[in-house]
Amino acid sequence: MTPVKATPETIAEAAAALLRGELVAFPTETVYGLGADATNARAVAAIFEAKGRPRFNPLITHVADVTVAGRIGKLTAHGRRLADAFWPGPLTLVLEKQSDCPVADLATAGLATVAVRVPAHPIAQQLLAAASVPVAAPSANRSGHVSPTTAAHVAADLAGGVAMILDGGPTAVGLESTVVDVTGEAPVILRFGGVSREAIERVVGASVEVVTGHSGKPASPGMLARHYAPATRVRLNANDVRDGEALLAFGPRIPAHNGPVINLSAAGDLTEAAANLFAALRTLDAAGAAAIAAMPIPEEGLGEAINDRLRRAATPP
Ligand code: TXA
Ligand code: MG
Repeated sequence: MTPVKATPETIAEAAAALLRGELVAFPTETVYGLGADATNARAVAAIFEAKGRPRFNPLITHVADVTVAGRIGKLTAHGRRLADAFWPGPLTLVLEKQSDCPVADLATAGLATVAVRVPAHPIAQQLLAAASVPVAAPSANRSGHVSPTTAAHVAADLAGGVAMILDGGPTAVGLESTVVDVTGEAPVILRFGGVSREAIERVVGASVEVVTGHSGKPASPGMLARHYAPATRVRLNANDVRDGEALLAFGPRIPAHNGPVINLSAAGDLTEAAANLFAALRTLDAAGAAAIAAMPIPEEGLGEAINDRLRRAATPP
């Protein structure tokens, strides 16, 4: 499937395809999504088929604005405050479903809650406006693979079952959205992502619990330990690099190496590193190295999300 450049015409075509129950891959500011009309259970089922998902994980429903979000799920006080602060943007809120929530049960895996996000990418916004239905969209990769940050990644991963891939260039954030459950008394972070824990805590005005399911029962089923997985073994916290390895570097001072090297950010900028992470993992994975040696990333700001993805990538199958 060849990506098509996103234009008003191709976006209109993509919206029509969604309304016919077909799948469309589209850029968001985080990663590319594989979208279906969230109210159409058959279309949602086609997402799982196209991704080769081993099980029906609940999906994020993308909507145009906070008003539509409020028709789907109940915006609590915390939810409203976080939505005001970060929407449109890389934040997903888990909300209690409205009684007349139009989202298909398959998209929420039968849960009483629904994950909702208002994406900031103009192409995603235009697609949602043109389709005027909520769009369920997981990352547009094969199940278990690294999330796609370019249209070419999508095309390489998803062969069949996709009507259209809208190309909007590389995504800006490069990590998935931060998932926050706001159904309870206090918000809980279920997945680290494009909005840092610190930024969320500033809005909430208190420290926020994190339940990312590394141990025990996964709070967010997408948080299976080995989820962001290149085929090549990943060696974490590498301060040196061995013969035959590829180096995933970070910062201005990196070890000399003859093999493949990608520096996530020579300037040591965590936002730049996040944007480059998945494409770098893909490229190094294809380099035929014995392992990918990943240099340490500071555990602060978006570094928490980057390290979360790297730890998952390093979990043996
Ligand atoms: O940035 C993103 O979030 C991208 C773009 C395309 O928007 N989407 C994405 O979707 O990463 P996906 O399906 O790969 O991840 C959805 C995450 C999973 O961790 C899933 O478990 C969680 O959201 N989730 C969805 N519904 C949930 C619910 N009702 N309760 C708890 N977690 C939920
Ligand atoms: Mg995913």
